[in-house]
Amino acid sequence: MTVTTIKKPESKVKYSTPNTTSILKDSGLCQAKEYFRHKDVILFEGDTLNEYLFNREFIDLIVTSPPYNVGIQYNSHKDELTYEDYLEFSEKWFRNCYKWTKPQGRLILNIPLDKNKGGQRSVGADLTTIAQKVGWKYHSTIVWNEGNISRRTAWGSWLSASAPFVIAPVELIVVLYKDSWKKTTGSRVSDIKRQEFMDWTNGVWTFNGESGKRVGHPAPFPRELPHRAIKLFSFVRDVVFDPFCGSGTTLIESANNNRIGIGVEIDKHYCELAKNRILNETGTLNFEKETNKPKKPNNGVFPKTSQQKYSASGNR
Ligand SMILES: C[S@@+](CC[C@H](N)C(=O)[O-])C[C@H]1O[C@@H](n2cnc3c(N)ncnc32)[C@H](O)[C@@H]1O
Repeated sequence: MTVTTIKKPESKVKYSTPNTTSILKDSGLCQAKEYFRHKDVILFEGDTLNEYLFNREFIDLIVTSPPYNVGIQYNSHKDELTYEDYLEFSEKWFRNCYKWTKPQGRLILNIPLDKNKGGQRSVGADLTTIAQKVGWKYHSTIVWNEGNISRRTAWGSWLSASAPFVIAPVELIVVLYKDSWKKTTGSRVSDIKRQEFMDWTNGVWTFNGESGKRVGHPAPFPRELPHRAIKLFSFVRDVVFDPFCGSGTTLIESANNNRIGIGVEIDKHYCELAKNRILNETGTLNFEKETNKPKKPNNGVFPKTSQQKYSASGNR
């Protein structure tokens, strides 16, 4: 009798296990000006639309909130493109980030559900479709309930079925990946706690938005958002990237959670702001020590914050 040994088929794709720390020493990584570095974080002053900004795949996890095109008064970025131009802008940066991401890399994308000002648009659905068009694969969507119901004023036709407006005080956090969802490379060390894993794998996240006034940027997200994304979707020492770094929130959480953080921001003024925040807010391993401690919702209803991030759909 012949005995045949059946060999487990080898995976077609061979992934190397790069030493992620080495990218911190690599002066050729980025074409843009290095604005600042601290601990394991580097901030570049540059344009994410420049396809030659980086010359290789180096990203394990992107956590970002791109401009929403809702007329926010940024220092230099014009946030009022036509919708068609905005979709073109989005396609460009999706494509660039795809090129710079490792095969098992992920994109955690904070975007609006929809837009009501200047015409109703399904922004979340449109951007998710474009991301897939350039190659990103869809995994799931987290609904972020930022509790911003207090400023809701646009009812449309009040008490009439003529033309009422339905507005959801939520934003989306779309979870995408490059080639394969299963991560087999990197340190393979996860630092998420049992309760956090159970809570955060529930696709409705409830915490307050950030105050633009407090941070000094017109559209920051709260530290809780990259904090959760980093711990849930990356391994310790992975390279976390934010192509629209703003006030540096993603980099702060990267540094505080033992990841390598790389950020790009086009505006020098926000680079300086991010630098100061990184200097002041890294080292606080327990982010709840910050003044920005998220307020606990009481039966799902949030206490009002003085001035929250640009509002959810209601005021867009
Ligand atoms: C929504 S904000 C990001 C806020 C960030 N998540 C935070 O917590 O502060 C978008 C940022 O993208 C920047 N930006 C706009 N166009 C850019 C580009 N082409 N390349 C790099 N940054 C850009 C803007 O200046 C703005 O700071």
